[in-house]
Amino acid sequence: MKGVILAGGLGTRLSPLTRVTNKHLLPIFDKPMIYYPIGALVKAGITDILLVTGGNSAGDFLRLLGNGSEFGLKHFNYTYQKGEGGIAEALSLAEHFADGESIAVILGDNVIEGNVRAAKQSFDKQGRGAKILLKRVPDPQRFGVPELRGDKVISIEEKPKQPKSDFAVIGIYFYDAQVFDIIKTCKPSARGELEITDVNNAYIRQGTMTWDELQGWWTDAGTFDSLLRANNLVAEGGANKD
Ligand code: G1P
Repeated sequence: MKGVILAGGLGTRLSPLTRVTNKHLLPIFDKPMIYYPIGALVKAGITDILLVTGGNSAGDFLRLLGNGSEFGLKHFNYTYQKGEGGIAEALSLAEHFADGESIAVILGDNVIEGNVRAAKQSFDKQGRGAKILLKRVPDPQRFGVPELRGDKVISIEEKPKQPKSDFAVIGIYFYDAQVFDIIKTCKPSARGELEITDVNNAYIRQGTMTWDELQGWWTDAGTFDSLLRANNLVAEGGANKD
């Protein structure tokens, strides 16, 4: 399985912090934000990794990360997203890299306490389709929210005013190689972006979507409140633990 980290966008919700740099280069406690999703993939045993970046300061990622030796990697891959086309559009740039293999996708501002090794192994066994990870949150309307029936997820709504559960779909996804054909069928949402939620709903309709509940804390870091929360959680106990 290969890994894809999505770290583009303009990070406008964090302006002026993001006026002269990329959101994913901002600090979370003692490291740049981008270190956490890389660490999460490496901890799961995924070492062939593509970083999709864009917007401001794209070249700084290369200076910061090089070939990934700090993470025990021999090589690191990069590609560039022009403009603000959304998460699914950023992912479409990974088609050539994936080259027919399954992928684990992580959003560059997602930080986890533990690891996703078990989820990765369970998706290896599943062999096809997709897997999402869910986490109970106090403010589901900020996220993609699943509607669950028994042990099945029957749909996901992006930032619903009236959430159908108190789970968030976190920004770590497992997909088979079909994902790139699915993205080609997606249409821009009201915010003008290709939504990852539409991709996930396509797998749900196909009946090949599974989900696991993530153990340990999870947060994103794309707003002032969540960035502060991420800093506090990492400072208190650390991330990407065994
Ligand atoms: C994105 C996804 C959303 C998901 C969230 C997790 O939201 O669209 O479904 O729950 O990441 O971090 P965004 O951060 O782009 O608002």
